[in-house]
Amino acid sequence: MILYKDIIKEDHPDLRIPSKEVSLPLSDEDIKTLELMNEYLLNGYDEEKTKKYGIRPGVGLSAVQIDVLKRMFIIMAYDEKGVFHHYAVINPKIISESIELTYLKSGEGCLSVDRQVDGLIFRPRRIKANVYLYDFLEKKVTYKQLKLKDYLAIIFQHEYDHLKGILFVDRINKENPFLILPNSVPVTFESQED
Ligand code: NI
Repeated sequence: MILYKDIIKEDHPDLRIPSKEVSLPLSDEDIKTLELMNEYLLNGYDEEKTKKYGIRPGVGLSAVQIDVLKRMFIIMAYDEKGVFHHYAVINPKIISESIELTYLKSGEGCLSVDRQVDGLIFRPRRIKANVYLYDFLEKKVTYKQLKLKDYLAIIFQHEYDHLKGILFVDRINKENPFLILPNSVPVTFESQED
């Protein structure tokens, strides 16, 4: 089991190294890594386990964050409409992105950034990505084109950045962290909590 302390933090040099393509079919070791990452995020949705193991919940986790430098990540999140999304992504490639941008009004967070960081991050509002997806139940990999927008597009791009050695803090405008870019719309959640 992975605990929060096992996730490497922003001062760790490996977070700055681009991850390598994963060979397919998946090795047993890579499947094990995906399962551990998946279990961490799943435990984050279980209040009892978050307390018991001191888990900080998250909506995405890249392999590099547990110091495995391979191009894979898990997304486990409810979108702004309350629809649940769960992807185990391998060797993703973003093939198109909209000119229109989106952002989270409260900024982004990251399991590898253990501090409050103020500022907005602007990302294409809609993306298309070719990915391999691992199905934990069928234990199979399929090739798919994902079309994501708004919150899910943000999460995907945040994780995609991890595979390139980029952290969300790098994308904040240092001079004016809250400057709203033209051509951008914030993500609005149906049950607004902020
Ligand atoms: Ni992150």
